[in-house]
Amino acid sequence: MDFAEILGRTGALVEAELVRLLHGPMVAGVPARLAGAMRHAVLGGGKRLRPFLVLETAQLFDVGPDEALPAALAVELIHGYSLVHDDLPAMDDDELRRGRPTVWKKFDEWTAILAGDGLQALAFEVLAASPPGSKLMNGGLAGEVRARLIVALAEASGVRGMVGGQAFDLEADKLGNPRQPDAAHIRRLQAMKTGALIRVSCEAGALLAQAADNDRSALRSYGTQLGLAFQISDDLLDVEGDATTVGKAVAKDAAAGKATLVSLIGLEAAKTELSRAVREAKAALAPFGRRADRLVQAAEYVAARDK
Ligand code: IPE
Ligand code: IPE
Ligand code: MG
Ligand code: MG
Ligand code: MG
Repeated sequence: MDFAEILGRTGALVEAELVRLLHGPMVAGVPARLAGAMRHAVLGGGKRLRPFLVLETAQLFDVGPDEALPAALAVELIHGYSLVHDDLPAMDDDELRRGRPTVWKKFDEWTAILAGDGLQALAFEVLAASPPGSKLMNGGLAGEVRARLIVALAEASGVRGMVGGQAFDLEADKLGNPRQPDAAHIRRLQAMKTGALIRVSCEAGALLAQAADNDRSALRSYGTQLGLAFQISDDLLDVEGDATTVGKAVAKDAAAGKATLVSLIGLEAAKTELSRAVREAKAALAPFGRRADRLVQAAEYVAARDK
Protein backbone atom coordinates (compact mmCIF):
# COMPACT_ATOMS: atom_id res chain seq x y z
CA MET A 1 0.00 0.00 0.00
CA ASP A 2 1.39 3.41 -0.81
CA PHE A 3 2.09 5.65 2.14
CA ALA A 4 -0.46 8.35 1.30
CA GLU A 5 -3.13 5.65 1.53
CA ILE A 6 -1.76 4.36 4.84
CA LEU A 7 -1.74 7.89 6.24
CA GLY A 8 -5.26 8.44 4.91
CA ARG A 9 -6.54 5.43 6.84
CA THR A 10 -5.00 6.61 10.10
CA GLY A 11 -6.30 10.06 9.35
CA ALA A 12 -9.87 8.78 9.05
CA LEU A 13 -9.63 6.88 12.33
CA VAL A 14 -8.13 9.85 14.14
CA GLU A 15 -10.66 12.25 12.64
CA ALA A 16 -13.57 10.11 13.82
CA GLU A 17 -12.21 10.00 17.37
CA LEU A 18 -11.48 13.73 17.38
CA VAL A 19 -15.01 14.47 16.19
CA ARG A 20 -16.39 12.33 19.01
CA LEU A 21 -14.09 14.04 21.51
CA LEU A 22 -14.84 17.60 20.43
CA HIS A 23 -18.58 16.98 20.48
CA GLY A 24 -18.51 14.91 23.65
CA PRO A 25 -18.77 15.43 27.40
CA MET A 26 -15.27 16.89 27.71
CA VAL A 27 -16.50 20.02 25.90
CA ALA A 28 -20.10 19.98 27.11
CA GLY A 29 -21.31 23.38 28.32
CA VAL A 30 -18.28 25.17 26.84
CA PRO A 31 -19.04 28.60 25.27
CA ALA A 32 -20.13 27.81 21.70
CA ARG A 33 -17.69 30.23 20.08
CA LEU A 34 -14.75 28.67 21.93
CA ALA A 35 -15.82 25.10 21.15
CA GLY A 36 -16.35 26.11 17.50
CA ALA A 37 -12.84 27.53 17.32
CA MET A 38 -11.36 24.36 18.84
CA ARG A 39 -13.19 22.25 16.26
CA HIS A 40 -12.09 24.53 13.44
CA ALA A 41 -8.49 24.16 14.62
CA VAL A 42 -8.46 20.40 14.85
CA LEU A 43 -11.11 18.85 12.60
CA GLY A 44 -11.22 18.40 8.86
CA GLY A 45 -7.63 18.77 7.83
CA GLY A 46 -4.05 17.97 8.57
CA LYS A 47 -1.94 15.03 7.58
CA ARG A 48 -2.20 13.40 11.04
CA LEU A 49 1.43 12.34 10.80
CA ARG A 50 2.04 12.52 14.56
CA PRO A 51 -0.89 10.26 15.51
CA PHE A 52 0.22 7.88 12.76
CA LEU A 53 3.65 7.70 14.42
CA VAL A 54 2.12 6.97 17.82
CA LEU A 55 -0.16 4.22 16.48
CA GLU A 56 2.52 2.71 14.27
CA THR A 57 5.31 2.62 16.86
CA ALA A 58 2.81 1.08 19.32
CA GLN A 59 2.01 -1.58 16.72
CA LEU A 60 5.70 -2.56 16.67
CA PHE A 61 5.12 -3.96 20.15
CA ASP A 62 1.64 -5.33 19.42
CA VAL A 63 -0.06 -2.49 21.25
CA GLY A 64 -3.26 -1.75 19.32
CA PRO A 65 -5.27 1.44 18.80
CA ASP A 66 -7.49 0.67 21.79
CA GLU A 67 -4.53 1.50 24.01
CA ALA A 68 -2.57 3.86 21.77
CA LEU A 69 -5.36 6.24 20.73
CA PRO A 70 -5.36 8.47 23.82
CA ALA A 71 -1.68 9.26 23.20
CA ALA A 72 -2.27 9.68 19.46
CA LEU A 73 -5.10 12.14 20.08
CA ALA A 74 -3.20 14.00 22.79
CA VAL A 75 -0.26 14.61 20.48
CA GLU A 76 -2.56 15.85 17.71
CA LEU A 77 -4.38 18.20 20.10
CA ILE A 78 -1.06 19.69 21.19
CA HIS A 79 -0.05 20.03 17.55
CA GLY A 80 -3.36 21.75 16.76
CA TYR A 81 -2.91 24.18 19.63
CA SER A 82 0.65 24.94 18.52
CA LEU A 83 -0.58 25.84 15.03
CA VAL A 84 -3.39 28.08 16.31
CA HIS A 85 -0.93 30.10 18.36
CA ASP A 86 1.80 29.97 15.68
CA ASP A 87 -0.58 31.63 13.20
CA LEU A 88 -1.55 34.53 15.50
CA PRO A 89 -0.68 38.07 14.34
CA ALA A 90 1.77 38.32 17.24
CA MET A 91 3.62 35.27 15.99
CA ASP A 92 3.70 34.30 12.27
CA ASP A 93 0.67 36.37 11.32
CA ASP A 94 -0.86 33.83 8.95
CA GLU A 95 -4.35 33.86 7.50
CA LEU A 96 -4.41 30.48 5.75
CA ARG A 97 -3.99 27.03 7.28
CA ARG A 98 -4.94 23.69 5.71
CA GLY A 99 -6.53 25.65 2.88
CA ARG A 100 -8.88 27.47 5.25
CA PRO A 101 -8.79 30.68 7.28
CA THR A 102 -6.71 30.40 10.44
CA VAL A 103 -8.57 30.36 13.74
CA TRP A 104 -7.84 34.01 14.60
CA LYS A 105 -8.91 35.06 11.11
CA LYS A 106 -12.17 33.13 11.21
CA PHE A 107 -12.95 34.05 14.83
CA ASP A 108 -10.65 36.61 16.47
CA GLU A 109 -7.42 36.73 18.41
CA TRP A 110 -8.74 36.25 21.90
CA THR A 111 -10.81 33.28 20.81
CA ALA A 112 -7.76 31.78 19.09
CA ILE A 113 -5.61 32.23 22.18
CA LEU A 114 -8.22 30.59 24.38
CA ALA A 115 -8.89 27.80 21.87
CA GLY A 116 -5.18 26.97 21.90
CA ASP A 117 -5.12 27.03 25.70
CA GLY A 118 -8.17 24.80 25.78
CA LEU A 119 -6.72 22.28 23.34
CA GLN A 120 -3.54 22.05 25.37
CA ALA A 121 -5.37 21.26 28.59
CA LEU A 122 -7.66 18.83 26.78
CA ALA A 123 -4.64 16.94 25.46
CA PHE A 124 -3.45 16.20 28.96
CA GLU A 125 -6.95 15.35 30.14
CA VAL A 126 -7.33 12.79 27.33
CA LEU A 127 -3.99 11.27 28.19
CA ALA A 128 -4.78 11.05 31.87
CA ALA A 129 -8.31 9.70 31.42
CA SER A 130 -9.48 8.32 28.06
CA PRO A 131 -12.65 10.11 26.94
CA PRO A 132 -15.87 8.23 27.57
CA GLY A 133 -18.03 7.08 24.68
CA SER A 134 -15.31 5.77 22.38
CA LYS A 135 -15.86 2.27 21.05
CA LEU A 136 -12.19 1.94 20.38
CA MET A 137 -10.46 3.25 23.45
CA ASN A 138 -10.61 0.84 26.32
CA GLY A 139 -9.40 3.26 28.96
CA GLY A 140 -7.41 0.40 30.43
CA LEU A 141 -3.95 1.96 30.33
CA ALA A 142 -1.98 1.48 33.53
CA GLY A 143 -1.64 4.60 35.66
CA GLU A 144 2.11 4.39 35.52
CA VAL A 145 2.13 4.25 31.71
CA ARG A 146 -0.18 7.26 31.58
CA ALA A 147 2.07 9.17 33.97
CA ARG A 148 5.15 8.47 31.84
CA LEU A 149 3.34 9.59 28.69
CA ILE A 150 2.18 12.77 30.42
CA VAL A 151 5.71 13.62 31.50
CA ALA A 152 7.09 12.91 28.03
CA LEU A 153 4.41 15.04 26.34
CA ALA A 154 4.85 17.90 28.81
CA GLU A 155 8.58 17.87 28.20
CA ALA A 156 8.23 17.75 24.42
CA SER A 157 5.56 20.45 24.21
CA GLY A 158 6.77 22.82 26.91
CA VAL A 159 9.68 25.17 27.39
CA ARG A 160 12.34 22.53 26.81
CA GLY A 161 10.56 21.51 23.62
CA MET A 162 8.03 23.14 21.30
CA VAL A 163 7.39 26.32 23.31
CA GLY A 164 11.11 26.94 23.83
CA GLY A 165 11.75 26.33 20.13
CA GLN A 166 9.01 28.78 19.18
CA ALA A 167 10.68 31.35 21.44
CA PHE A 168 14.01 30.86 19.64
CA ASP A 169 12.23 31.07 16.28
CA LEU A 170 10.50 34.33 17.18
CA GLU A 171 13.58 35.87 18.78
CA ALA A 172 15.35 35.48 15.44
CA ASP A 173 12.31 36.74 13.54
CA LYS A 174 11.22 39.67 15.75
CA LEU A 175 14.40 40.68 17.55
CA GLY A 176 17.10 39.63 15.10
CA ASN A 177 18.65 37.59 17.86
CA PRO A 178 21.14 36.08 17.33
CA ARG A 179 22.18 38.38 14.51
CA GLN A 180 23.67 35.54 12.51
CA PRO A 181 22.28 32.24 13.70
CA ASP A 182 24.70 29.43 12.99
CA ALA A 183 23.85 25.85 12.07
CA ALA A 184 24.08 24.66 15.68
CA HIS A 185 21.57 27.29 16.81
CA ILE A 186 19.17 26.47 13.98
CA ARG A 187 19.39 22.75 14.64
CA ARG A 188 18.64 23.28 18.32
CA LEU A 189 15.75 25.62 17.50
CA GLN A 190 14.25 23.12 15.04
CA ALA A 191 14.81 20.12 17.26
CA MET A 192 12.79 21.92 19.93
CA LYS A 193 10.01 23.61 17.98
CA THR A 194 9.13 20.74 15.65
CA GLY A 195 11.43 17.85 16.47
CA ALA A 196 10.37 17.33 20.07
CA LEU A 197 6.72 16.60 19.32
CA ILE A 198 7.59 14.29 16.44
CA ARG A 199 10.19 12.54 18.57
CA VAL A 200 7.77 11.97 21.46
CA SER A 201 5.19 10.63 18.99
CA CYS A 202 7.73 8.00 17.96
CA GLU A 203 8.76 7.21 21.51
CA ALA A 204 5.13 6.79 22.54
CA GLY A 205 4.98 3.23 21.22
CA ALA A 206 7.84 2.20 23.48
CA LEU A 207 6.31 4.02 26.45
CA LEU A 208 2.92 2.38 25.89
CA ALA A 209 4.51 -1.05 25.66
CA GLN A 210 6.96 -0.44 28.51
CA ALA A 211 9.55 -1.63 26.03
CA ALA A 212 13.24 -2.20 26.74
CA ASP A 213 15.54 0.84 26.90
CA ASN A 214 17.31 -0.05 23.64
CA ASP A 215 14.00 -0.15 21.76
CA ARG A 216 12.97 3.19 23.23
CA SER A 217 16.28 4.74 22.30
CA ALA A 218 16.09 3.35 18.73
CA LEU A 219 12.70 5.03 18.34
CA ARG A 220 14.05 8.17 19.91
CA SER A 221 16.83 8.31 17.31
CA TYR A 222 14.34 7.66 14.53
CA GLY A 223 12.07 10.42 15.84
CA THR A 224 14.91 12.89 16.24
CA GLN A 225 16.06 12.46 12.64
CA LEU A 226 12.49 12.41 11.35
CA GLY A 227 11.73 15.65 13.20
CA LEU A 228 14.76 17.35 11.71
CA ALA A 229 13.82 16.09 8.25
CA PHE A 230 10.25 17.28 8.75
CA GLN A 231 11.19 20.87 9.53
CA ILE A 232 13.73 21.02 6.70
CA SER A 233 11.04 19.85 4.30
CA ASP A 234 8.62 22.43 5.78
CA ASP A 235 11.21 25.13 5.16
CA LEU A 236 11.79 23.84 1.62
CA LEU A 237 8.04 23.93 0.97
CA ASP A 238 8.05 27.58 2.02
CA VAL A 239 10.51 28.26 -0.80
CA GLU A 240 9.50 25.75 -3.47
CA GLY A 241 5.95 24.75 -2.56
CA ASP A 242 2.67 25.78 -4.09
CA ALA A 243 0.35 27.60 -1.65
CA THR A 244 -2.79 25.85 -2.91
CA THR A 245 -1.25 22.41 -2.48
CA VAL A 246 0.51 23.21 0.80
CA GLY A 247 -2.67 24.86 2.14
CA LYS A 248 -0.80 27.77 3.75
CA ALA A 249 1.03 30.87 2.59
CA VAL A 250 4.50 30.24 1.17
CA ALA A 251 7.55 32.41 0.51
CA LYS A 252 7.30 34.05 3.92
CA ASP A 253 10.22 32.73 5.96
CA ALA A 254 13.06 34.63 4.30
CA ALA A 255 11.20 37.94 4.41
CA ALA A 256 10.33 37.37 8.06
CA GLY A 257 13.95 36.69 8.92
CA LYS A 258 13.27 33.13 10.06
CA ALA A 259 16.36 31.21 11.08
CA THR A 260 16.24 28.15 8.83
CA LEU A 261 18.84 25.81 7.41
CA VAL A 262 17.60 26.76 3.94
CA SER A 263 18.40 30.42 4.57
CA LEU A 264 21.79 29.57 6.10
CA ILE A 265 23.16 26.97 3.71
CA GLY A 266 20.92 27.26 0.64
CA LEU A 267 18.44 24.95 -1.06
CA GLU A 268 20.81 22.32 -2.38
CA ALA A 269 22.74 21.88 0.86
CA ALA A 270 19.48 21.76 2.80
CA LYS A 271 18.24 18.99 0.51
CA THR A 272 21.45 17.07 1.14
CA GLU A 273 20.91 17.51 4.87
CA LEU A 274 17.32 16.32 4.46
CA SER A 275 18.47 13.15 2.67
CA ARG A 276 21.02 12.51 5.39
CA ALA A 277 18.41 12.84 8.12
CA VAL A 278 16.06 10.46 6.30
CA ARG A 279 18.87 7.94 5.84
CA GLU A 280 19.70 8.09 9.55
CA ALA A 281 16.04 7.85 10.52
CA LYS A 282 15.71 4.67 8.48
CA ALA A 283 18.96 3.24 9.85
CA ALA A 284 17.68 3.69 13.40
CA LEU A 285 14.82 1.29 12.61
CA ALA A 286 17.15 -1.60 11.74
CA PRO A 287 16.53 -3.47 15.04
CA PHE A 288 12.84 -3.82 14.16
CA GLY A 289 13.38 -5.38 10.74
CA ARG A 290 10.40 -5.65 8.41
CA ARG A 291 7.97 -4.75 11.19
CA ALA A 292 9.11 -1.16 10.74
CA ASP A 293 8.42 -1.01 7.00
CA ARG A 294 5.67 1.58 7.33
CA LEU A 295 7.88 3.77 9.52
CA VAL A 296 10.56 3.55 6.82
CA GLN A 297 7.92 4.67 4.30
CA ALA A 298 7.03 7.55 6.63
CA ALA A 299 10.62 8.80 6.54
CA GLU A 300 10.68 8.63 2.76
CA TYR A 301 7.35 10.42 2.61
CA VAL A 302 8.65 13.30 4.73
CA ALA A 303 11.44 13.96 2.24
CA ALA A 304 9.18 13.76 -0.80
CA ARG A 305 6.00 15.44 0.42
CA ASP A 306 4.45 18.38 -1.38
CA LYS A 307 2.16 19.42 1.49
C1 IPE B 1 3.15 22.08 10.27
O1 IPE B 1 2.94 20.74 10.63
C2 IPE B 1 3.92 22.78 11.32
C3 IPE B 1 5.27 22.28 11.54
C4 IPE B 1 5.61 21.72 12.63
C5 IPE B 1 6.28 22.44 10.52
P1 IPE B 1 2.22 19.72 9.64
O2 IPE B 1 2.80 19.86 8.27
O3 IPE B 1 2.26 18.37 10.24
O4 IPE B 1 0.74 20.27 9.62
P2 IPE B 1 -0.64 19.53 9.32
O5 IPE B 1 -1.11 18.99 10.62
O6 IPE B 1 -0.41 18.45 8.31
O7 IPE B 1 -1.54 20.62 8.81
C1 IPE C 1 5.81 25.94 13.37
O1 IPE C 1 6.78 26.11 12.42
C2 IPE C 1 6.14 24.93 14.33
C3 IPE C 1 5.19 24.93 15.45
C4 IPE C 1 5.59 24.59 16.62
C5 IPE C 1 3.78 25.28 15.27
P1 IPE C 1 6.32 26.98 11.20
O2 IPE C 1 5.87 28.33 11.65
O3 IPE C 1 7.34 26.92 10.12
O4 IPE C 1 5.04 26.13 10.73
P2 IPE C 1 4.08 26.59 9.56
O5 IPE C 1 4.95 26.74 8.33
O6 IPE C 1 3.43 27.86 9.97
O7 IPE C 1 3.13 25.43 9.43
MG1 MG D 1 6.30 29.60 13.20
MG1 MG E 1 4.10 29.42 11.02
MG1 MG F 1 6.92 26.76 8.03
